[in-house]
Amino acid sequence: MISRKPIRKAVFPVAGLGTRFLPATKAIPKEMLPIIDRPLIQYAVDEAREAGIEQMIFVTGRGKVSIVEHFDMAYELEKTMQERDKSMQVLESTRLTPGNLVTVRQQVPLGLGHAIWCARAIVGDEPFAILLPDELMIANRDGGPGCMKQMVEAYGEVGGNLISVLERPREELSSYGVIAPGARVSEGLTEVTGLVEKPRIEDAPSNLIISGRYILQPEVMRTLEGQAAGAGGEIQLTDAMAQMIGSQPFHAVTFAGRRFDCGSKVGFVEATLALALEREDMKDEVRAMALRLLGG
Ligand code: G1P
Repeated sequence: MISRKPIRKAVFPVAGLGTRFLPATKAIPKEMLPIIDRPLIQYAVDEAREAGIEQMIFVTGRGKVSIVEHFDMAYELEKTMQERDKSMQVLESTRLTPGNLVTVRQQVPLGLGHAIWCARAIVGDEPFAILLPDELMIANRDGGPGCMKQMVEAYGEVGGNLISVLERPREELSSYGVIAPGARVSEGLTEVTGLVEKPRIEDAPSNLIISGRYILQPEVMRTLEGQAAGAGGEIQLTDAMAQMIGSQPFHAVTFAGRRFDCGSKVGFVEATLALALEREDMKDEVRAMALRLLGG
């Protein structure tokens, strides 16, 4: 039977060391680096909430406490703001329903598959989402759904397992998980017949990469159990998912929106500029500034 149990839980792997952003990430988790005025993790949590997900599970590690504090109540701050008659609206999105934030630790960085497996007891026996905060997925300007919401809608249609995909140039494929696409189900929804993590360019089965959003059935936890290391010597989520193809439905969703690779410095700058150019409170000034800099 195809599972269509509702998606209530999301796992956020946030234990990574963020070495690409050193020295900025020496004492601050990379997930707390802001795109304008919201830390990266906030965008991912907002995306999950928009999709109707209630429980946020952070797989953290040493030095990542500020991520959890970000979603806590900051009593002194709120009291002071109240006394000064300041609007609390900016803090609205940092408030989770009490009890809906859970953290587990990944003591050793053994790979994405291992990080997800660390959340097995909290996920339990229900389907769940995964959001990689480095991949910033932003809805189109016309106000369409966010990536996870679009995936939850597709899940309602086909059930089983889903991943988000997007096209990338050939030379980038060996940095990602790449899918072998099967039959097209509907606009933006395709069957997946194979998955390979960080293939050599000549072995890549398509130019469609996994872009950091997943809806998976709980059986993936059992597949991850005792799984051997794969690409880069890490326990890969992609390898576990590949094993499930054939026994469970597996589909890919092409997000009708924009993706910024905030795991890279250039991607981070691009996201900052793109979002600043859309914000009512700053877009005119930012546009003038960008033109001035380019003209200079
Ligand atoms: C991970 C996944 C990979 C996916 C990528 C998206 O790789 O293993 O399949 O394409 O995220 O960003 P990582 O970035 O951890 O190397």
